[in-house]
Amino acid sequence: MTSLWMQNGERPRFATLAGGLHVDVAIIGAGITGITAAVLLAERGKSVAVLEKETVGSGETGRTTAHITESLDARYHSIRRHFGLDGARVVAGAMHAAVEQVASFVDKLAIDCDFRRLPGYFYTEKRNRVADLKSEAASAKDAGLAASWTMDVPLPFLTRGGVRFEYQARFHPLRYLLGLASRVAASVYEHVHVLSVEQGDPCVLETSAGRVTAGAVFVATNAPINDILLHTRIAPYRTYAFAAPFAGPQPDGLFWDTAEPYHYTRWHGESIIVGGGDHKVGEGEGELAAGTAGDDRWSEILGYARERYGPLEPSHRWSGQIIEPADGLPYIGAASDHLYLATGYSGQGMSLGTAAGMLVADLIDGRSNEAAELFSLKRPPLGGVKELVTENLGFPRHFLLDRFHTDTNRTFDVKGGEGKIVSAGGRRLAVHRDDTGTLHALSPVCRHLGCDVAWNSAERTWDCPCHGSRYSIDGKVLNGPATEALERVAIDDPDQ
Ligand SMILES: Cc1cc2nc3c(=O)[nH]c(=O)nc-3n(C[C@H](O)[C@H](O)[C@H](O)COP(=O)(O)OP(=O)(O)OC[C@H]3O[C@@H](n4cnc5c(N)ncnc54)[C@H](O)[C@@H]3O)c2cc1C
Ligand code: FES
Repeated sequence: MTSLWMQNGERPRFATLAGGLHVDVAIIGAGITGITAAVLLAERGKSVAVLEKETVGSGETGRTTAHITESLDARYHSIRRHFGLDGARVVAGAMHAAVEQVASFVDKLAIDCDFRRLPGYFYTEKRNRVADLKSEAASAKDAGLAASWTMDVPLPFLTRGGVRFEYQARFHPLRYLLGLASRVAASVYEHVHVLSVEQGDPCVLETSAGRVTAGAVFVATNAPINDILLHTRIAPYRTYAFAAPFAGPQPDGLFWDTAEPYHYTRWHGESIIVGGGDHKVGEGEGELAAGTAGDDRWSEILGYARERYGPLEPSHRWSGQIIEPADGLPYIGAASDHLYLATGYSGQGMSLGTAAGMLVADLIDGRSNEAAELFSLKRPPLGGVKELVTENLGFPRHFLLDRFHTDTNRTFDVKGGEGKIVSAGGRRLAVHRDDTGTLHALSPVCRHLGCDVAWNSAERTWDCPCHGSRYSIDGKVLNGPATEALERVAIDDPDQ
């Protein structure tokens, strides 16, 4: 499942870690967050090392649909209600500055990434959502954005109007990221898995390629690998996308509807790109509301798109992880004296990842930044109760209940392509049978905090419902916060 962007192309030559490295700032993760911070810090004279367990852009930045926008999943009217008009203005200012930062990098560094300005439309097909959207248009405008209500949404089907955001943008995210990373190529280390971070003076990072010490560390891993407390305020979701050749006239814009979960649509080159189908990691793969047009998430978004844009045959389909914060705002800032992290971007990681790189670079450099307080990790939980109830009771529930659950005690019941929790030889195992009939058995106990993983049939992975760690059928970590693989278990297949 490779995204539209993940094609072989030119890549800068990155560095090789030989051990014994000391830098001013170690950055974990080479997505848009980590690379933005690295470039800004390097421009300010800091020595940096970006440590990436796979390759540059192999995380969510290589899977995004790359709407670069000031719009917010959390909605400006909600931010205003909870954080006041001043709060909404600070958030809008940070989003705007991030979009401009991307534009400025593209321009200054001549990054060839198909960057283009265009409007964004948050539209509805339903009459009963119009009042909400009008209120969002007013709140976004009051927050200082060039946003307005419009009945003129340039889509080839009936809408009831929407909020139009001016001067949004889109690009090819991997070409952008690699272009940016080439500025600091000598400081980017691929295939270096950070296994632990010890805060101190200096901070000590144990990695798969030896020890690295640093004056400060920025954890830019999308889901933080080192902060257990923060995981009570964020929730990981899967989201799905496809690209398909599109011959007709292309509407000029980025488009987001009001369905729940919502659909996001844009065009790139000769392709339409549609996304949606979000659900909490480890819960709800394959489960769809009655009346949806297929039997999995891609079928649902494809059905949605075909109804509106005509026959489409996907050339690419992929999925990825987004992190929802409980109160609608990202967490960006200091976790302790020399340790920084950023997470919780919802579906706005292009803008918020850039904003995070800017903010953390400022904090490390001792500069002021208007968004520092609002995005701080130390801000109190909103209202204290509601959001924690909605998102976080999942952890104790899964932790307590899942460990007694088994699907079967016969490996025979695990058919080709399936995964089940099997009770075998006196222990519970996560067992997958691949298409050749071979069994792959793992301990189901997640290496983060010990919840049980669940089978993801759409992607053939083992996903943890507690904080979103994901593992391959061989136990390898695909998504954190876990940093260690699931234990592999040798298993006989008496049923074969
Ligand atoms: C299908 C989809 C569509 C999306 N569409 C949009 C959109 O249109 N607009 C938008 O703004 N956002 C969108 N997003 C969200 C956006 O892509 C992400 O929020 C953003 O890319 C996150 O960037 P990041 O740099 O924080 O994380 P990532 O790009 O995930 O980078 C983190 C890196 O850390 C590395 N890493 C993790 N653990 C370790 C470790 N222990 N040691 C070393 N390295 C480690 C990972 O390998 C990864 O490369 C979408 C996401 C998905 C999945
Ligand atoms: S991701 Fe936290 S317990 Fe699995």
